Amino acid sequence: MKKTRLIMISFVLFGLLMAGCASSNSNNNNNNNNNNNNNQEELREFTLEELAQYNGKDGNPAYVAVNGKVYDVTDVPAWRGGSHQGAVVAGIDATEFISKSPHGTSVLNGLKIVGTLK
Ligand code: HEM
Repeated sequence: MKKTRLIMISFVLFGLLMAGCASSNSNNNNNNNNNNNNNQEELREFTLEELAQYNGKDGNPAYVAVNGKVYDVTDVPAWRGGSHQGAVVAGIDATEFISKSPHGTSVLNGLKIVGTLK
C-alpha cells in the first residue's frame, strides 16, 4: 500500500517537473522573439531619404543602417541627440563608419532591428 502511494506521488512530481520545463521553454522562446526583432515579423523598408528623418533630433527616434539593416539607437546613451562620439550621426547608412570604429559590429547584437535599407 505504502509502495503504491510512493509510486503515485513520484508520478505527480514528475508531471509537475515536465510542466515546469515546458513553460520555462516557452518563456525563453518569447524572449528570443523580442530580442533583435528580426524574426518573422515584417520589417519596414527604408529609403535613404526616409531614414534621414530618424536623426534623433527634435524628439525623432534615432535609426542607423549598417550592412542593409536598420538599427534603433534611440535609447543608447552613446547616441544621445542622434550624434555618436562626434564621428557619426543617426539617420544615415553608417556601414563604412562602423568598420573604422573601435568596437566593430559586435555592438549591433544588442540593438533592435527596425527595418532594412532599400
Ligand atoms: C567611426 C565611427 C565610430 C566610433 C569612433 C565609435 C566609437 C564608440 C565608442 C568610443 C563607444 C563607447 C562609448 C561609451 O562607452 O560611452 C561606442 C559605443 C557604441 N557604439 Fe560606436 N562608434 C562608431 C560607430 C558606430 C556605429 C556606426 C554604430 C552603429 C549602430 C555604433 C554603435 C555603438 C553602440 C550601440 C555603442 C554602445 C555600446 C554599449 O553601450 O555597449 N557605433 N562607440
